[in-house]
Amino acid sequence: MLRVLVMVSGGGTNLQAIIDGVADGTISNTELVGVISNNYGVYSLERAKAAGIKSVVVSPKDYENRSMFNDALLDTVDSFEPDLIVLAGFLVVIPEKMIDRYENKIINIHPSLIPSFCGTGYYGLKVHEAALARGVKVSGATVHYVDKGTDTGPIIMQKAVDVLDGDTPKDLQQRIMEQAEWKLLPAAINKIANS
Ligand code: GAR
Repeated sequence: MLRVLVMVSGGGTNLQAIIDGVADGTISNTELVGVISNNYGVYSLERAKAAGIKSVVVSPKDYENRSMFNDALLDTVDSFEPDLIVLAGFLVVIPEKMIDRYENKIINIHPSLIPSFCGTGYYGLKVHEAALARGVKVSGATVHYVDKGTDTGPIIMQKAVDVLDGDTPKDLQQRIMEQAEWKLLPAAINKIANS
């Protein structure tokens, strides 16, 4: 069984897709061992609780500086002894030490077709705002391994989604989640768990 730790910052619809995937067998050979959030009070924590998964908040607000936060984050990650770490809307820069320790064991979902609309500053709705501003007709989602760059690691899976006339950033975000992200992330975990 692959021990999977999920890291989140917000509402956690991707976390929910993973929980549901493990429950209905879409993701096999996988145990969800924990959820880490960098924010208190986010709905992801309710989702973890409802599924009986241990969750921990590691917030930068509780530490004097970034280096102390990074150390606490890594200690918490280590405590779950994960085989795979899934960044499911985790909007914190991963400490280099963590990338070294978990080389090829961290994956991320990004809501565009990398290499478009990715890198520093492209997260959440900003990605979709940029895609609409550029006028692309197709966007999508990407699951990739995390390396020391921002959204630069090897691509595992991608799925394209049409942009429609009159889309707002929220419309596009929702369509990409429904048609791509919530399927792609469970599929990528299942692939890793069974390879
Ligand atoms: C998702 O759209 C995910 O792709 C994006 O944040 C959202 C989190 O939603 N991640 C990034 O932008 C990473 N650069 P969720 O909390 O409902 O899963």
